[in-house]
Amino acid sequence: MVKPVARPSAAFKYKPLATKPPAAGHQGKKGPRLAPIVMGGAVLYVAATYVSMLVFKSKGDTTAYTKDQQQSHQPQDADGSKVMGLRSDQLPRLTPDNYDTSRIWGTVANSYDKEIGMDETVMGMGVLRWWLVSQAKGDVLEVAAGTGRNFGYYRPSQVASLVVTDDHASMLSQAEAKFAQYKEKFHDTFVAFQTANVDQHLHASQADNKEQASQDLSRKFDTVIDTFGLCSCHDPAEALVAMADACKSSESRILLLEHGRSHYDWLNRLLDANVDKHVQKWGCWWNRGIMDLFQDDRVKDKVEVLSSSRWHFGTTCYIVARPKRSE
Ligand SMILES: C[S@@+](CC[C@H](N)C(=O)[O-])C[C@H]1O[C@@H](n2cnc3c(N)ncnc32)[C@H](O)[C@@H]1O
Repeated sequence: MVKPVARPSAAFKYKPLATKPPAAGHQGKKGPRLAPIVMGGAVLYVAATYVSMLVFKSKGDTTAYTKDQQQSHQPQDADGSKVMGLRSDQLPRLTPDNYDTSRIWGTVANSYDKEIGMDETVMGMGVLRWWLVSQAKGDVLEVAAGTGRNFGYYRPSQVASLVVTDDHASMLSQAEAKFAQYKEKFHDTFVAFQTANVDQHLHASQADNKEQASQDLSRKFDTVIDTFGLCSCHDPAEALVAMADACKSSESRILLLEHGRSHYDWLNRLLDANVDKHVQKWGCWWNRGIMDLFQDDRVKDKVEVLSSSRWHFGTTCYIVARPKRSE
């Protein structure tokens, strides 16, 4: 005999979920908001990638720092003789005064873009470069321009002239060659390339045409821009003073994207422990306190920071400043 199927009593009937229609403008229960999750994920990704890269790079630099290099790059005594016969842990720490990085730029110039390109991509550095460089306008001076990694981010329609400088001819000639791709884009803009040392008042170190160099470098500018130059020059405070002196007026802007010490001690310890090896490979003192430079007696009377933000655990500094003038 077929059993009759039990029918739910009226008490077990499903009730409608909403008894009233939603009020006008009411969107119903909101799901998780996507934008903050995506943004948070992106920030976390960049941060994690950055730290892994830093650790990886420190290890790489350590491997590259062979015994031979230790010997040949040992700092010199004041009389110029090598400090010989010391174990690496007994060697005096490298400083800009006892270790000259000039030679390094000749060796890294050819491979520079290839070597740092991927690091910059995963760190989202292109976005920070674009954000900074797209603000450059009027007569623009770029110092420590290296291989010209900023060319693509300029807006030529707002740039009247661009003087591209670097202390090392090997790096500047890479920039000059790269500029061929951008010539069309800058067809209305006067563009010049000059070797100049930013921490020696833009002294034109290796210029072929001294007259032209002095014309280009003695001009004053609406925008002075530097990306990752303060970590590499001998005296970054002096470099900031030279940038301020190169400005036309307090309406001019000094645009900086730099890297140095972090907000975090654990990261600073990593930077400090590996700075000797890093500087010998990359010519870069990566543990400088970039924001502290603005408190230096030479700088604080000359440069005023208008806005700044720090990225990658505080190691990357985005700074908009202007010269202090009593006009
Ligand atoms: C880390 S690279 C940065 C290059 C480029 N600005 C960029 O964003 O990719 C540092 C550059 O600073 C240059 N440099 C080092 N000391 C300098 C100095 N005293 N004056 C001008 N340039 C200098 C080096 O030749 C090198 O090209």
